[in-house]
Amino acid sequence: MKKKSIFACRDCGHEHSKWLGRCEGCGEWNTLDETTTIEAPKGARGRLAAGFSVVSKMQPLSEVSLEDRPRLSMGMEELDRVLGGGMVAGGVVLLGGDPGIGKSTLLLQALAQHAEQSPQASLLYVSGEESAHQLAHRARRLGVPEALLARIQVLAETSLERINETLAALGPTMVVIDSIQTTLSEQLPSAPGSVAQVRECAAQLTRWAKSQGRCVFLVGHVTKEGAIAGPRVLEHMVDAVLYFEGDGHAAFRVVRAVKNRFGTVNELGVFAMTDRGLRGVSNPSALFLSHAHPTDADSEVPARRSVAGSCVLATQEGSRPLLVEVQALVDAAHIPNPRRLCVGLEPQRLAMLLAVLHRHAGVACFDQDVYLNVVGGIRVSEPAADLAILAAIMSSLRDRPLPERLVVFGELGLSGELRPSPRGQERLREAARLGFATALVPKANLPRREMEGLTVVGVSSLAEALDWLSAHR
Ligand code: TYD
Ligand code: MG
Repeated sequence: MKKKSIFACRDCGHEHSKWLGRCEGCGEWNTLDETTTIEAPKGARGRLAAGFSVVSKMQPLSEVSLEDRPRLSMGMEELDRVLGGGMVAGGVVLLGGDPGIGKSTLLLQALAQHAEQSPQASLLYVSGEESAHQLAHRARRLGVPEALLARIQVLAETSLERINETLAALGPTMVVIDSIQTTLSEQLPSAPGSVAQVRECAAQLTRWAKSQGRCVFLVGHVTKEGAIAGPRVLEHMVDAVLYFEGDGHAAFRVVRAVKNRFGTVNELGVFAMTDRGLRGVSNPSALFLSHAHPTDADSEVPARRSVAGSCVLATQEGSRPLLVEVQALVDAAHIPNPRRLCVGLEPQRLAMLLAVLHRHAGVACFDQDVYLNVVGGIRVSEPAADLAILAAIMSSLRDRPLPERLVVFGELGLSGELRPSPRGQERLREAARLGFATALVPKANLPRREMEGLTVVGVSSLAEALDWLSAHR
């Protein structure tokens, strides 16, 4: 195989034949690195030998078989849900997340559960980070039965060539590569984890999965900013990208699909980390409320009155409604540039909301520090969180708790109008089920029929919402 020197962009992966100051793909400056790639050999035989897929035949769209590829259950309901109903043969899934969040644990458990479900499956766990000894310890700790342990092959290896040999010899039906950043091809001179290495390794493993119809899980490291390390092209190559998120200290972790060619995105799988690995949580809607909340009927912590700066938001994640607590702390700033800090929410959105609050409700925060937090380490990115964020901010600013057992949602426009949120009925139904008494929502989300136990208040603008809040406590 012929080697060729090219210049690839660190961010978007766009390739250039010569060095340039600015990437022609994404327009970023100083992102080009010189790398070496392996040129695909000419001719069908050479391509096949290099693992490229067979040349496919053109056909009319109407004649393409509609038969669905069978779903392979991973034996973990929450993981199957995120994948869109299970894994698909030939599918490649990238799982990213902070160190220690539980990526290796999840995939080892998934392999074991899958082994139990499908007796013919042949499973391989390739670890470039941990030794076989460490893996065996973890598997024992997870309580995987001896019979299933015997069916999972482990390979502590980082060389792609050696991994390819094992894949060819064993022909596993499902493979975990832990992690793609530690895997390196000896054909390339660049260091493990570099753009060229990550891309080449992922490309070869993806080609193997597609041509053989086998499943591959790739573990991906994340950068400080929280994106999967390596070029964005990595995310384009695979069929699904899952992120493992959550506060490392909290017991609950969430797996979210940000891309999925086999199902819907933004579907959530919720897990609890226990001393025997991850356990799926099938009814998570009340998990992300702090114990201080009065609806927490069966918690051991005695229920307290609601506190200032806290507002419960009914959010919709994938197919399930979820109630999360948004907390705000607004405090006099002592520096000319007040601080804006968001955990689990988007900082740009906060800046916009504060501007709307100033312009349409006359409340200025330019001399106040604003801190926002979502309880439980979950990330909320939907705009339906707007009204809850401002309700929490106003509550903290005025040092006045919101009415008890209140739930809020709604998107704010730049002119201060409240826009309806999708699937409002489901959010309201879930809030009613969990014992909330009042819901403050956009007018267009008012239910057609009355809801048992839940008074729904519809408002059409921010000013109206704040008026209602100051009149009720
Ligand atoms: P790990 O799966 O090694 O994370 P990653 O591969 O994402 O870096 O994370 C394991 C963490 O979870 C570690 O801090 C120990 C903890 N843990 C448990 O609490 N219970 C268990 O049964 C296992 C296996 C790990
Ligand atoms: Mg790991």
